[in-house]
Amino acid sequence: MSAALLARTGVTAEEFRAAMAALAAPVTVVTCYDEYGTPRGLTASAVSSLSLDPPLFLVCLDRKSSSHDALVGASSFCVNLLAPGDEELALKFAGRPDRRFDGVRLAAGEDAAPGLSDSALRLMCERHETLDGGDHTILVGRVVSVDGDGLGLTPAGGLLWHQRGFAYARPVPRPGA
Ligand SMILES: Cc1cc2nc3c(=O)[nH]c(=O)nc-3n(C[C@H](O)[C@H](O)[C@H](O)COP(=O)(O)O)c2cc1C
Repeated sequence: MSAALLARTGVTAEEFRAAMAALAAPVTVVTCYDEYGTPRGLTASAVSSLSLDPPLFLVCLDRKSSSHDALVGASSFCVNLLAPGDEELALKFAGRPDRRFDGVRLAAGEDAAPGLSDSALRLMCERHETLDGGDHTILVGRVVSVDGDGLGLTPAGGLLWHQRGFAYARPVPRPGA
């Protein structure tokens, strides 16, 4: 795979993975209800704010993931932003698919998609568009509500995935401030 990728693109899988490991990314759990009303979800750090007007947010989903089709097919999904201390939750939603929601409390009053009540911040999204992203699908959602106490994430900041492990974002003073 790596030699073939190098021949086609000039970059090996190892080089690309090492470069991307240097990119600190927020850790989220993206959830939805599937067509049977069963909660589904996965840990995702390939996420980004996309647009302010309209408010759009994107998530990159591995086409091979067992949750891919449910998330891409759902009319709504929830992006649950994790905070320092949520490392076990992050690993749980990257582990056995049939155990991911075991013991997890869902936020009351959020029926369109299962929000995790312990997450720092929840972005409830309606599906806006899906785009081709190579071996991933780019799922674009229109944010319809923001909930949680995530704006009080101090002093430790957010939970990040960096250099193939967890890291905590630490706010520092802005130069000149
Ligand atoms: C910190 C972290 C970040 C991840 N980010 C993504 C991501 O952005 N997109 C994605 O499809 N899978 C991501 N994964 C992998 C999924 O959480 C999940 O483990 C994978 O899709 C396999 O799921 P499956 O067993 O349901 O097929 C990430 C895993 C971890 C631990």
